[in-house]
Amino acid sequence: MRKNIVAGNWKMNTTVPEGVQLAKDVCAAVAAEIGDANVGLAAQNCADHTSGAYTGEVSAPMVASTGANYVILGHSERRGYYNESYEMLKTKVDLALENGLKVIFCCGESLEERENGSFKEVIGAEIRDSLFHLTAEQMANIVIAYEPIWAIGTGKTATSDQAQEIHAFIRGLLADQYGAQVADDMTILYGGSCKPSNAPELFAKPDIDGGLIGGASLKAGDFMGIVTAF
Ligand code: PGA
Repeated sequence: MRKNIVAGNWKMNTTVPEGVQLAKDVCAAVAAEIGDANVGLAAQNCADHTSGAYTGEVSAPMVASTGANYVILGHSERRGYYNESYEMLKTKVDLALENGLKVIFCCGESLEERENGSFKEVIGAEIRDSLFHLTAEQMANIVIAYEPIWAIGTGKTATSDQAQEIHAFIRGLLADQYGAQVADDMTILYGGSCKPSNAPELFAKPDIDGGLIGGASLKAGDFMGIVTAF
């Protein structure tokens, strides 16, 4: 079943005490609004190996052992700064699922790809090459996040119509590959300068099921302003 999700991506921010405080503030506010059973924990990445001599890496079993429910994979910052390829992400997706984690899988085009008109091709390839080897059953544990790179941390949000167009396009790809049920059940989030002021308009679109929030997730008040947009 499609779910409404607002996910916070804190990125490389907060010390342990700051992170604990922010988590407490968010949990208290969420519990007051929708109940704390609705809160999940996610890692921002996992390794493409299960264990072994990979200094500095954190595996999917390690992430799962913390009690995390989700892992974000394929964020454009990981693809761009750490050269994560489609093939590597495919392996990470498999390892995450094998270890009982749900995956928030990110896709999205650069400004250049938006402007030269290749954006649907790019997004289609990102999804096809790292996810379409999965079975329909496995797709139930995937959440897709559309994050145009030009809108991440820039204050430049995609318009609600631009986002809706891509979300509908992604749902169409899923319908072609897996049929209408899988497509209809998929939760598709929008990310990129989402904030309390623009969340209501974005979330009102039929194919936008929530958000992946960077900057605005670092303040409990702003994050809750987005959660309550539903
Ligand atoms: P932003 O980041 O909300 O700061 O634009 C979104 C993301 O990178 O997930």
